[in-house]
Amino acid sequence: AVADSLYVINSFASKFFDEQLFNTEDGQAIAMSYLKERGFREEIIKKFQIGYNPQSRDTLAKALIANQFNKELLPKTGLVTVRNETELVDNYRGRIIFPIHGNTGKIIGFGARVIGKAEKAPKYINTPENDIYVKSKILYGSYFARVAIDKADECLLVEGYTDVVSLHQAGIENVVASGGTSLTIDQLRLVKKYTNNLTIIYDGDSAGVKAALRGLDMALEEGLNVKLVLIPDNEDPDSYVNKVGASGFKDFIATNKKDFILFQLEVMLKEVGTDVNKKSDLVNQIADTISKINKVEDFTKQQDYIKQCSAILKIDEGGLTTLVNKYKR
Ligand code: GTP
Ligand code: MN
Ligand code: MN
Ligand code: MN
Ligand code: MN
Repeated sequence: AVADSLYVINSFASKFFDEQLFNTEDGQAIAMSYLKERGFREEIIKKFQIGYNPQSRDTLAKALIANQFNKELLPKTGLVTVRNETELVDNYRGRIIFPIHGNTGKIIGFGARVIGKAEKAPKYINTPENDIYVKSKILYGSYFARVAIDKADECLLVEGYTDVVSLHQAGIENVVASGGTSLTIDQLRLVKKYTNNLTIIYDGDSAGVKAALRGLDMALEEGLNVKLVLIPDNEDPDSYVNKVGASGFKDFIATNKKDFILFQLEVMLKEVGTDVNKKSDLVNQIADTISKINKVEDFTKQQDYIKQCSAILKIDEGGLTTLVNKYKR
């Protein structure tokens, strides 16, 4: 089947990229030196099978053809593209390659990063959707994180590939990445298979948090307990753990973990000020959010939120309960 062939091609390509990174001059001089400069050590590079696609136009393409892979199928992987109708050229030329492992450990796709600053080209290129790479179902790092998530009974969610890799290197292994987009229901269900506790660790810029907020209602409906940690001052988990070290990072998370519903309330309450209409909107919005906690076994949790939120909003608890029940329907 097509799926099986795609797995085989990806596996071949990943080995090729490793070989290029570790055993070629350019790989060492251009790619490995960049990775080392960023603080990645060989052990972690090997664990995540990070690799390098050389700069010349068709190094990988030639190797794929020499190994008699199906030419029709190759472009589906996103590794190569057809040029001038018949010619195959590498798509990730001169980039660092992050293989993306499916839940069983097979490579389903790749994230390819420009080395250094992204000037004109996009910083990352990702595998296009195909039979085995379905973006909405993928959490980067899930294969490496599942045991640690189970043990900690908590899943940390970050934005990027490098955040996952750096946290692993720091000994924090219960971490997956969303790829910087809004969470999907399938991604949340994947988390839910391992734990009920999701901690979103995003950089403080509004884009990331807004993306996370869009997933909040769905997460609550799935019965997840959602916490949020904002990384300060233009840092992200990768840069921040490199700055403050493993124990500094763990301390920061422990001290700054906030309940996501209460966080949302806090942020919006600031915007409301003394405006009665805005306050009414906010009360409705919070009631709507709380109403999403609707699994039977989560009844107490919902009660708890009603109590806390009505106190913060300085409104009647019974009134908020009524409103929540209205939104349930
Ligand atoms: P580094 O700069 O290497 O540390 O990566 P980062 O993960 O910090 O990047 P950033 O915070 O900008 O983006 C978070 C995630 O969004 C990345 O890991 C990618 O998955 C994705 N992303 C970022 N830039 C691009 C892009 O140009 N194209 C695509 N398709 N995805 C991107
Ligand atoms: Mn961001
Ligand atoms: Mn960013
Ligand atoms: Mn980032
Ligand atoms: Mn980063």
